[in-house]
Amino acid sequence: MDSDAFFLELNAISTISDVLLDMARSAPESKWETHLDQNLILVPEELLRSEPSLATFMDQYDPGRRMMIFRTQPHAAYSWHMDKNRKSAINMLLHGPDSITFAGKRAPIGTTINLNSMLELYRLPLRKNKYYLFNVGGMHAVYNYGDQIRYLLSISVPFPYTYEQTAEFVKTNNL
Ligand SMILES: [Fe+2]
Repeated sequence: MDSDAFFLELNAISTISDVLLDMARSAPESKWETHLDQNLILVPEELLRSEPSLATFMDQYDPGRRMMIFRTQPHAAYSWHMDKNRKSAINMLLHGPDSITFAGKRAPIGTTINLNSMLELYRLPLRKNKYYLFNVGGMHAVYNYGDQIRYLLSISVPFPYTYEQTAEFVKTNNL
């Protein structure tokens, strides 16, 4: 069992997480969009490109416009799912002290009594100022059981690239 199949922590230490959090907290309500049940604002590409590791990654996997901050309300959850339009993303938790992101594999039907059983369950560490490549094409879930809004930066990798391809790129380039 290997957590690398679900997520990878990048070596880079972010210098822009405070700027991103301020951006999210000060964004007027009219900037927030809802897409596939997720509440998000778009983030300017120039800001992300000020981080050399992100610039290298985005040169290889152009995210188009899909660089965003997601918010999850207090005491809310985004239950087990696989993302529809992407296989991997670079994520960084901006705020959400009482929140958890889980990843895992669904148990094959017939092997357990409960069809919602998960095998190989992991909790993403999501340490402060750290970027993670995340396998969003696999099953994952977010639970915010805290009293504060959770904010997460997410840079999407477009199709047809797989998580395995982007993980290889991150490792090879020491991002
Ligand atoms: Fe997701």
